[in-house]
Order: sequence, then C-alpha cells, then structure tokens
Amino acid sequence: MALVGCGSALPAASVSNAALSERVDTNDAWIRSRTGIGARRVAGPDETLTSLAAEACTHALAHAGWSPESLDLILLATSSPDDLFGTAPRIQACLGARNAVAFDLTAACSGFLFALITTAQYIAGGSVRRALVIGADQLSRWVDWDDRRTCVLFGDGAAAVAVEACDADANGLLGFRMRSDGSRNGCLTLAQTDQRQALLGNLSAQRGGFAPIHMNGQEVYKFAVREVPAVLAEVLEACGTEANQLDWLLLHQANQRILDAVAERFKVPPERVLSNLASYGNTSAATIPLMLDEAVRDGRVKPGHRLASSGFGAGLSWGGALLRWSGPQG
Ligand code: UT7
Repeated sequence: MALVGCGSALPAASVSNAALSERVDTNDAWIRSRTGIGARRVAGPDETLTSLAAEACTHALAHAGWSPESLDLILLATSSPDDLFGTAPRIQACLGARNAVAFDLTAACSGFLFALITTAQYIAGGSVRRALVIGADQLSRWVDWDDRRTCVLFGDGAAAVAVEACDADANGLLGFRMRSDGSRNGCLTLAQTDQRQALLGNLSAQRGGFAPIHMNGQEVYKFAVREVPAVLAEVLEACGTEANQLDWLLLHQANQRILDAVAERFKVPPERVLSNLASYGNTSAATIPLMLDEAVRDGRVKPGHRLASSGFGAGLSWGGALLRWSGPQG
C-alpha cells in the first residue's frame, strides 16, 4: 500500500487560550506550558463532520490526481459522527464516489492509525485498490465547556490520506502494532448516560445520550509516555530500523510534553518532531493526517521519507507504525 495523497479541512473559527480564559478559570501560560496548545478550531453549526471530511477528501483526491469514481473504499475514523449509524456513506455521497464502500471505525485518538492499518489489509487481500482513509473529529460538541481540565485540550478538524495498491518497493506501511486495554477504559470516556425511560409495566429501557468527555489526565499522560515508546520500539525493531534512520516522528498531537518525551527516548532531535499543537490542539482521530498534510504541503515531508507514527488515547488504545510517504504517482 502506497501513501500517495492527502488533504485536510478545518473549521473557520479559531479560539485562543486568552479567549477561553474568559469562560473558564485558566490562562495562556498554564495551557502553553502544560500542553503546548495555543489555539484550537471550533466548528460552527453548519460545519458538520461530513462537510469537513468531504472537503478534506476532495483535497486528497485532487492531490492524488484521482476521480471519486476510482475509489473502492472510504474508511472514516471518528468518535464524533454526525450519525451513529455511520457518517462515511454521507461523505461518499458528497464526493460522488459511487463505486466505493464507505463505513466508520471508532478507536478515538488511535482511530486514524487503526483505519490506515485496516485499509492496508484490504489492499493486501486484493479486494481494494484505491482508498481514502479519513481521520475526523468534532470533540467541541462533546466537551464540557465549563471543565477547564478538558475543554482547553481539544479542537475540531478533518484530514484524509489517499492510499493505493503498489509494488513492494513503494510500500508505505513498513510495520505496525495495535494494542488496547479495556480494563483502563474509565481513564478517558465519552460514554452513555444512565437515563431510564419507562416503557410498559415494569419494563424500562435506556434512553440514548452521552455524557461529556471525562478524562483522568495524569493517568492518560503516564500511559502515553510508557506505551508509545514501547510500541514504537517494537515496530522499529521488527522493521530493522534504527531511530536515527527516521526522517520524522509523526505522533498523535495530545501534548507537547508527550511528543518531547518520546523524542528524547529515541534521541530524535526536536526539528524532526512534527507538531502543530500550538495552532490546533488535540483533534483526536484527525491529528496524524492533519499533521502529515501540513508537512507534505509545506515540503518538510518528501517522497521516500520514513515516519514513525503512533496514535494513543481512549479505549485505552494505542498503536505504532513505520510509514513511508510516496506522494502523487506520475
Ligand atoms: O488524546 C487522548 C490522549 N490524551 C492525552 O494524552 C492527555 C494526557 N494528559 C495530559 O496531557 C495532562 O495530564 C493534562 C494536560 C491534561 C493536564 O496536565 P497535568 O500537568 O497532568 O495537570 P494536572 O491534571 O496534574 O493538574 C495540575 C493543576 C491542578 O491544580 P491543583 O489541584 O494542583 O491545584 C489542576 O486543577 O492544574 C490545574 N488545572 C488547570 N489550571 C489552569 C487543570 N487544568 C487547568 C487549566 N488551567 N486548564
């Protein structure tokens, strides 16, 4: 599977740390020093997950030089769908990708990496030739805007990567590992509320609805700085790759201190660690493709570059992959 194109889309409104401090008891110095975040994009009512993701896909298709009809698969990683029955088919309809099958995959901040790895299996099996892998989230709809421990962290965004079957020498997924540990699920949740509704006689049913994001920040932080280096070390060893052969670290953008800790573990210099936390915060499933798209567009990531990538978050779930960027073919 080769990584040949990318695209992204962001809501128009940017909310700075200073602006947020007018609503909750926080300040720019705390947020920047503890997270590296300076601002985040927040989607308005008309900027749906579908519209942002479809825009990102349109850019990725143009970058790859593909028609929508040539797609076999659209895989959307998200935890904040427009429709719990599935949002990917709506994106398919916007694109006019009538020959593709489109469905959603949920793995929180690991979602994009899991979706990319899943897509690679279809491509390896021969049933898919061309696919768009999307990471998109609008957690602004699910944070408690009065909870300073979480509302400062998250932002909205969507990004897509165009991938296709290729010869072995162009392979863009050189190795990977995927992990989850449901026993630690309670550390980070966007879970159903416990609301009963009486039906008939003694019979009652749950009413659907979700509580805002709840996170034990310190536990998730400790989990990330322990598991991300471990899983990346496994991937690199399996690929026979030394950290000094990496062109970039492309990690889930949750906290600059996590990026720095992982970089230090592998002795990757700061200038090879991709970070856009300052502008966008944590966009959950979107962070990795959003960062990739930015670095491809501004010329930092070039064809042939190797990127060590890791997604981690709710589940708890995490994974690592060694990627190679190909760029548009022909
Ligand atoms: O994408 C999914 C993966 N998520 C992550 O990887 C997030 C991992 N966790 C983190 O990044 C960090 O734990 C946070 C950024 C969430 C929090 O940073 P921390 O250094 O762990 O802070 P803390 O939770 O230990 O809180 C320290 C203090 C507390 O005050 P007291 O109790 O010491 O008086 C908090 O109440 O900072 C306070 N605090 C704030 N102060 C100003 C918490 N949030 C804020 C805030 N502004 N926004």
